[in-house]
Amino acid sequence: MRIAMIGTGYVGLVSGACLSEFGHTVVCVDKESEKVAALRAGRIPIFEPRLDEVVSANARAGRLIFETDIAAAVQNADAVFIAVGTPSRRGDGHADLTYVYNAAEEIAAALSGYAVIVTKSTVPVGTSREVERIIRRARPDAEFDMASNPEFLREGSAIDDFRRPDRVVVGCDTERAREVMREVYRPLYLNETPILFTSRETSELIKYAANAFLATKITFINEMADLCEKVGADVQDVARGIGLDGRIGSKFLHPGPGFGGSCFPKDTVALLKTAQDAGAPSRIVEAVIGVNDARKLSMADRIVKAFGGVEKKTVAILGLTFKPNTDDMRDAPSLVIVPHLQSKGATIRAFDPQGAKEAHKLLNIELCRDAYDALEGADGVVILTEWNEFRALDLGRVKGLLKQPLMVDLRNIYRPSQMADSGFTYVSLGRATATP
Ligand SMILES: NC(=O)c1ccc[n+]([C@@H]2O[C@H](COP(=O)([O-])OP(=O)(O)OC[C@H]3O[C@@H](n4cnc5c(N)ncnc54)[C@H](O)[C@@H]3O)[C@@H](O)[C@H]2O)c1
Repeated sequence: MRIAMIGTGYVGLVSGACLSEFGHTVVCVDKESEKVAALRAGRIPIFEPRLDEVVSANARAGRLIFETDIAAAVQNADAVFIAVGTPSRRGDGHADLTYVYNAAEEIAAALSGYAVIVTKSTVPVGTSREVERIIRRARPDAEFDMASNPEFLREGSAIDDFRRPDRVVVGCDTERAREVMREVYRPLYLNETPILFTSRETSELIKYAANAFLATKITFINEMADLCEKVGADVQDVARGIGLDGRIGSKFLHPGPGFGGSCFPKDTVALLKTAQDAGAPSRIVEAVIGVNDARKLSMADRIVKAFGGVEKKTVAILGLTFKPNTDDMRDAPSLVIVPHLQSKGATIRAFDPQGAKEAHKLLNIELCRDAYDALEGADGVVILTEWNEFRALDLGRVKGLLKQPLMVDLRNIYRPSQMADSGFTYVSLGRATATP
């Protein structure tokens, strides 16, 4: 089967590489010629664990090809996936569909023979029908069906998520399109992965509903963490106590500095806009967005308070990306917290294992070569992202490098008793501050 993947970012590259691993011939297209040149030369433009192995093995086998020319990829393709960005539109927060619609025009011009055009990008309800209109208007003669196939992979574990998804959702209206999509995901059928066929509108909404639900769960436990601090409860135990309830589940119950990343912030806002436009406003999603935005600033204030003010002080920050195992800085809490600390007079020394290149473009801070380098001479350390390498720092060494033994941990990766025993003042979330 021949597949064209339009857009070779986090989703397009992972999906394209994994579909080629399924045995299909996949041509990944991107407008950015440098990206395509890098991929052809075997360099991966993003950090995603094990992606390099999958890309190189399948490229070597001739099943994974990189192109800037959309026409070459679309001609003779059985399925054409649109995996371009859908950022928030400036001004109103609706999903910006410019890239999707431009891709639709380009696909229309190149279509030859029957193909299924699949929206893999996260797109608002109705987008698949609009893409269909665009293609039909441009090419009344073209033979194609539309499908919606949202992607649920998580950055940091994207390869495993694609190979072993909890489910695959496909929205389409015709049996012919369904057949093609079954063939695309045939290896998953053999694994008995649930494959849910729905209408296109339902499929589009499932993606937003899933992200909004997860964002709500995170925001809920963040609020519970604040409440725990006020009433002397421990949020880790509360999370465990409710998470063991099968109806609730233990995932996404870790308090933190507010959700960020390339999906939840923009997708919750876009869902809110869709709901308002449809006359079915979602007050829960609205509250989640407001609470989460406020949380990032309140985390900065918490740091300022823990340091007794940050004017003329040096704050060491460990972790800048929105979560570990990615270099993605989109909407990371650090982008709010760091400038706020700087506006209060702090000097920042930071380290992130993979995010430094992106962070350098977005933040005006000193980027250090490792965690211990960032700590040297700082007035305290803040853990912003829970990279594994920060979980087992040599606390004696940390203490020796800092001016005072102060740690603000916005991911709760240490035990308060352990930190107190090690001589630290340790401020975490939803638990009492530990002192030596
Ligand atoms: N990043 C994630 O974890 C994730 C997860 C699930 C869904 N999604 C959704 O998937 C979509 C893509 O997200 P992403 O993070 O991969 O975006 P991205 O910005 O990393 O990549 C998009 C790529 O598309 C390319 N592009 C744009 N227009 C093009 C065109 N006409 N022809 C060829 N290439 C074109 C861009 O150059 C870019 O490389 C979004 O809708 C996003 O919401 C993302």
